[in-house]
Amino acid sequence: MNIVCLGGGPAGLYFGLLMKLRHPEHKVTVLERNKPYDTFGWGVVFSDATMSRLQVADPVTASEILGAFNHWDDIAVHFKGETMRSGGHGFCGIGRKRLLNILQKRCEALGVELVFEAEVDAHADIAAQYKADLVIACDGINSKVRSRFAATYKPDIDERQCRFVWLGTRKLFDAFTFAIEETEHGWFQAHAYQFDGDTSTFIVETPESVWKAAGFESMSQEESIAFCEKLFAKYLDGHPLMTNAKHLRGSAHWIKFPRVICDQWVHWDTSADGRQVPYVLMGDAAHTAHFSIGSGTKLALEDAIELADTFERVGHDVKGMKEVMTAYQATRSVEVLKIQNAARNSTEWFENVARYVNLPPQQFAYSLLTRSQRISHENLRLRDDKFVAAYERFMASLANFDDSAKAKSTPPMFLPLQARGVSLKNRVMVSPMATYSAVDGLPGDFHLMHYGARAVGGAAIVFTEMTCVTPEGRITPGCPGLWNDEQQNAWARIVDFVHAQSDAKIALQLGHAGRKGSTRRAWDGIDMPLNDIARDGANWPLMAPSALPYMDGVSQVPHEMTQADMDAVLAAFVSAAKRGAKAGFDWLELHCAHGYLLSGFISPLTNHRSDAFGGALANRLRFPLAVFTAMRQVWPQDKPMSVRISAHDWVEGGITPDDAIEIAKAFKAAGVDFVDCSSGQVDKREKPVYGRMFQTPFADRIRNEAGVRTIAVGAISEADHVNSIIAAGRADLCAVARPHLANPSWTMQEAARIGYTDLNWHKAYVSGKRQMETNFERAAAMAAMSASPAAAKGEN
Ligand SMILES: Cc1cc2nc3c(=O)[nH]c(=O)nc-3n(C[C@H](O)[C@H](O)[C@H](O)COP(=O)(O)OP(=O)(O)OC[C@H]3O[C@@H](n4cnc5c(N)ncnc54)[C@H](O)[C@@H]3O)c2cc1C
Ligand SMILES: Cc1cc2nc3c(=O)[nH]c(=O)nc-3n(C[C@H](O)[C@H](O)[C@H](O)COP(=O)(O)O)c2cc1C
Repeated sequence: MNIVCLGGGPAGLYFGLLMKLRHPEHKVTVLERNKPYDTFGWGVVFSDATMSRLQVADPVTASEILGAFNHWDDIAVHFKGETMRSGGHGFCGIGRKRLLNILQKRCEALGVELVFEAEVDAHADIAAQYKADLVIACDGINSKVRSRFAATYKPDIDERQCRFVWLGTRKLFDAFTFAIEETEHGWFQAHAYQFDGDTSTFIVETPESVWKAAGFESMSQEESIAFCEKLFAKYLDGHPLMTNAKHLRGSAHWIKFPRVICDQWVHWDTSADGRQVPYVLMGDAAHTAHFSIGSGTKLALEDAIELADTFERVGHDVKGMKEVMTAYQATRSVEVLKIQNAARNSTEWFENVARYVNLPPQQFAYSLLTRSQRISHENLRLRDDKFVAAYERFMASLANFDDSAKAKSTPPMFLPLQARGVSLKNRVMVSPMATYSAVDGLPGDFHLMHYGARAVGGAAIVFTEMTCVTPEGRITPGCPGLWNDEQQNAWARIVDFVHAQSDAKIALQLGHAGRKGSTRRAWDGIDMPLNDIARDGANWPLMAPSALPYMDGVSQVPHEMTQADMDAVLAAFVSAAKRGAKAGFDWLELHCAHGYLLSGFISPLTNHRSDAFGGALANRLRFPLAVFTAMRQVWPQDKPMSVRISAHDWVEGGITPDDAIEIAKAFKAAGVDFVDCSSGQVDKREKPVYGRMFQTPFADRIRNEAGVRTIAVGAISEADHVNSIIAAGRADLCAVARPHLANPSWTMQEAARIGYTDLNWHKAYVSGKRQMETNFERAAAMAAMSASPAAAKGEN
């Protein structure tokens, strides 16, 4: 094959040498516009895991790189005069120039033709000019090939919010260093690491608004560097900051990071000599991942490995080209997306440093270390168990929990939480889940068994499913209610059972279905109007803030609520809250999420009113807040109240996470103790982005921006998730829903899995405790024996 790499960065050089190494018969040419050994940049970092991959691909290059590496294990976070240091992270730093020199030398030794000072024109017919069978478009972040064939690649370029500058210094940092400093205009952060014997990279970053307020737009390059030297003087020990972008004037060397995603990675072009030749994107041309997770060069090298391996698997000739291209894109795009998701979390964390500055410095550092959600609590423990143990002791002190006499520190998931007069034994809550098993709103034996089993299952608090304040406020005929004495007594039986048989608390969730009412039980057709009239009776009339059906042409059209309707609904909520208090519930939650009646008032998609209850968010909140306030007045003062909200409608024009901050602030002012941060189910057009802990960022933002305690929910399915969320201060409680359908004792099981043995089990079940713990201990020992150290450390 005749292969041309357009661009002599890490991607082009490494792919070139891998192909030549495996098949010397191929002709490989790398075209690079710079002179040899003439490049921009300071140092780049790799994790130990990346090094293991390079070792397999080409041991010679890997050992050269290893020899030139500056290796370190620690991350140090400097914040508000304190330094938090954790070890075991396993990074290597190398100068970009040094890396390119190693790759260039290896290319030359293997017979790759390197053509320097070869500026390739944006419209050059490379395939015809070089008789190429394959063109690798590895021309970097501003790729001309990508622009030329943009109609095929469909690049999505998102310019991020921060300005940053890539500087160097002779100050040698002995850890990967984050320094966060405040100015009168806002926060600046430095990311610094040593990459060779006498130089460190020093990146300074700040939100563009802060950068502008500090006057950077009109500063010369010298002035802006002097500003950074002064701001970070205590970390530089008198060493100046250096730039290698002298050619750039004024503020031009402060850039905004462009996040690049391409829909397609391969364009088939017809060359002048009539052949169909693939132009395949690789490295920064195909994708970028924010520098704060140090993955740009790693991704470029791994692209090269994947394409070379695919040729090896499918056949390294022109015949298999189509198949190779398809397989390469399919595999790499998924891998890259995972890194880009982690990079997005990390980017957003640094864009919003101001959100976290009120956390205690230790927690600020923990939040920073776990910002990408790729490093979890247990993963940190693997890296540095002493750091995690000390941090757990610190978390215990925050929770006023004295575990100093115990040999082992307490995982954050099992720290107690005080809410008004209610003490929760840990941070797990059984999330509200409809069971559609009531008759005439009456909870029965099923509910006693269901809630009872979950109460003895180890969670600190069990929430009831949405319990409806009127018969017409039910979602389905199977939904429970709390509008009469019989229901109150039935709930009291369940509450009493929970209190007598467990040390768990029980919360009542009250709601009204609004326009989503009068539908079938989920298993008969979720959200569909009733159809089994003989069994369920006729559909009942619906009310909502506006006369808009949930599903056009399918759902019943509700009538627009009048003032009298609102008065009656408010009174029903107050009456149910009083009954809940009489039944002995420990906690009350008002359901203002998922498109039900009160949520319907809050979202602009469902509230089109022109009176005082419609229009601006403050108006749309008026009725839900009135209901909350009236309930708070009758609900015992020593018992907490939470509100569940949809923090994101996931629909253009709907509620956004920014709105959710305002909603949370309004409920906080009305006296809410916790905001339960769910999302969606308001509008059928929603496009949620699912994933592990996918709604936790809402709880994080609300907790740290609105200053109110939060409950995180959504795809939280392991103790490790709970520990990471609580430890980082992203939420105060974790609601776990579906895992509790499969396993009422989810908390007992997760405690045993992570080796936490202090959880109380019901005395009738205690004989099973030690056995479960032993089984998990054995499984963990087996897993440890088969895991490689690099895999354990993972990535940064
Ligand atoms: C501030 C900052 C910090 C970073 N830190 C890290 C880090 O810690 N770790 C890490 O792994 N990565 C880091 N990166 C990212 C890293 O630099 C890139 O992701 C990596 O170099 C991508 O390799 P590449 O081969 O795809 O592109 P590049 O390295 O950009 O190479 C592209 C090459 O193509 C050449 N070229 C472009 N157009 C033409 C043309 N028309 N004709 C001829 N030649 C052309 C260019 O001169 C260049 O040599 C950082 C980036 C920035 C901006
Ligand atoms: C069967 C089922 C019924 C649900 N019913 C309710 C409900 O009554 N009230 C409520 O606020 N959320 C309800 N939810 C949403 C859950 O409380 C939770 O927010 C959601 O399932 C995401 O958490 P998970 O990923 O742990 O399942 C329900 C979820 C399920 C699966």
